[in-house]
Amino acid sequence: MGCKLALVRLVFEDDSPRFPVGIPPAGGGWTGLIHRSEVPAFAGLLWGWMVFCNFVVMVRVCYAGLSLILLYMAKILIINGPNLNLLGLREPGIYGSQSMDVALDALRREFDSHEIDYFQSNHEGDLIDRLHQAGADPDTAGVALNAGAYTHTSLALHDAIAAIKTPVVEVHISNVHSREEVRHRSMIAPACRGVIAGFGLDSYRLAVEALLRLTR
Ligand code: DQA
Repeated sequence: MGCKLALVRLVFEDDSPRFPVGIPPAGGGWTGLIHRSEVPAFAGLLWGWMVFCNFVVMVRVCYAGLSLILLYMAKILIINGPNLNLLGLREPGIYGSQSMDVALDALRREFDSHEIDYFQSNHEGDLIDRLHQAGADPDTAGVALNAGAYTHTSLALHDAIAAIKTPVVEVHISNVHSREEVRHRSMIAPACRGVIAGFGLDSYRLAVEALLRLTR
């Protein structure tokens, strides 16, 4: 209070033309003194500085908010291997009568705050290339891979999964363990984060769910 009064007197009394700025040194007396005519310019500078600081704070808050949104939004890639382009038509007693397009629509609706990409190929090399591509894409948070029959035969697919850091979940529509013995063995499982099998097309949804949990 006393300090405030002293400042007012210093600025507006004619015999005290100088206005103290800053912190008085320990020994007493003021260091920075400005003339009363300079007060508006000084106030303008102060105002500008405050506006700039507010702007910096706002930019930081927006950046943090955007980072949180990006963290929450994930891109998940579903890869289907050989013969899975025929879902809905192929052995409906085992794989059901729903097409992958219908399943994908439902998935995209359910996970609408995320991006669900899809790739299908009947060729081993194409599947490997797509896995490499996913591994090089920092936005792809995970891969749900139904490698079809390559699951049981492909060391090359195993190596492609092992070569990338992106988590891969092995997916099967049918319960491969309740089928012929040749389907009990998975070449790719040791390189995958987990395996989901036997829940029909819902296996894909469960895999996406599991991958999203890994990203949180
Ligand atoms: C499959 C199981 C594989 O054994 C088979 O070769 C497939 C589909 C499944 O989704 O159940 O093509 O991966």
